Amino acid sequence: MSAWPSTPSEQLIHLFRGFWVSQAIYVATDLGIADLLANGPRTVAELASAAGAHAPSLYRVLRLLASEGVFTEAEDGRFELTPMAATLRRDAGPVRLQVLFLGQGATWRAAGSLAHTVRTGETAFNHVHGVDFFEYFREHPDERVLFDQLMVGNTAPAGRAVAAGYDFSKIGMVVDVGGGRGALTVGLLAAYPHLRGIVFDQPAVVAGAKEAVAAAGLSGRCEVVAGDFFAAVPGGGDAYVLKYILHDWDDERSVAILRTCRRAVPAGGRLLVVEQFIPQGNAPSFAKTQDVNMLINAGGRERTEAEYRALYAAAGFNLIRSIPVLGELHVIEGIPV
Ligand SMILES: C[S@@+](CC[C@H](N)C(=O)[O-])C[C@H]1O[C@@H](n2cnc3c(N)ncnc32)[C@H](O)[C@@H]1O
Repeated sequence: MSAWPSTPSEQLIHLFRGFWVSQAIYVATDLGIADLLANGPRTVAELASAAGAHAPSLYRVLRLLASEGVFTEAEDGRFELTPMAATLRRDAGPVRLQVLFLGQGATWRAAGSLAHTVRTGETAFNHVHGVDFFEYFREHPDERVLFDQLMVGNTAPAGRAVAAGYDFSKIGMVVDVGGGRGALTVGLLAAYPHLRGIVFDQPAVVAGAKEAVAAAGLSGRCEVVAGDFFAAVPGGGDAYVLKYILHDWDDERSVAILRTCRRAVPAGGRLLVVEQFIPQGNAPSFAKTQDVNMLINAGGRERTEAEYRALYAAAGFNLIRSIPVLGELHVIEGIPV
């Protein structure tokens, strides 16, 4: 008997049923199963008792995940970690936070309305929740904390990669526009002891940024400022960094943010957008999945280099080069026209 799925119809059904696998990964993550297996294999009864779960149901979920290479079920019925499952451990990095954020609550519900977006162009998240992504999280601070932690988890390695891939030695002050909890700025200032920074974000977010900057011992070199990047961004920077900002917004709003930055960037200053490019061709890519994430949740989009070039031109910048720093992530450098 050939392995399932082998025929095109079986492969399609397998792909389509992936949303149950997504929920199974979410449930196992929410129950902390990967952490419970950190010290070796355990039975489902042990796992269910430790996690406060219904053992027969948990078994069926873990059996499905084992069939996908997330956990392994041994012949004695005990489950153990695989390399994929190990990435769900609390101490393993941002994968766990991404699963928790996308697998429950507001974004999971929005995903069920993708059809509405494709028929009408309206962002699914706004259709389901009646407000846009950032307004929703302003009103739901508990869920906001998870989003901010996820951004820190994703951005900390990106900060190190940007510091290594782009030379900040001639820049005195960097302004991190929409800098969240400041993970990018912390990475840059740690790598360049002469560098000073400003983390700029919404009022609801900056308290977390202040704590993070203080915890990194950088309060003396880094200010945290609250505001709205559609109205104004702080002056005084030599470089204005925007990581994962423009992908949240459509072209019109992205140009509006860049125009606000254009008013602040001095002659000789730099605009440094940090985003991933959509690659050409049919190969799977993180950016392509992230693009649909933006379609569903934020109303933004991932873009090609040519599309960033057009946004820059519309806002009064020249895109002069793009430096790959980490996977599909690039520093897209612009100068004022
Ligand atoms: C996708 S997160 C990126 C955070 C950070 N740059 C990073 O990469 O980790 C987008 C950020 O934009 C901020 N933001 C959204 N609307 C804003 C506004 N009108 N003014 C300032 N910041 C805003 C959010 O609070 C959030 O921290």
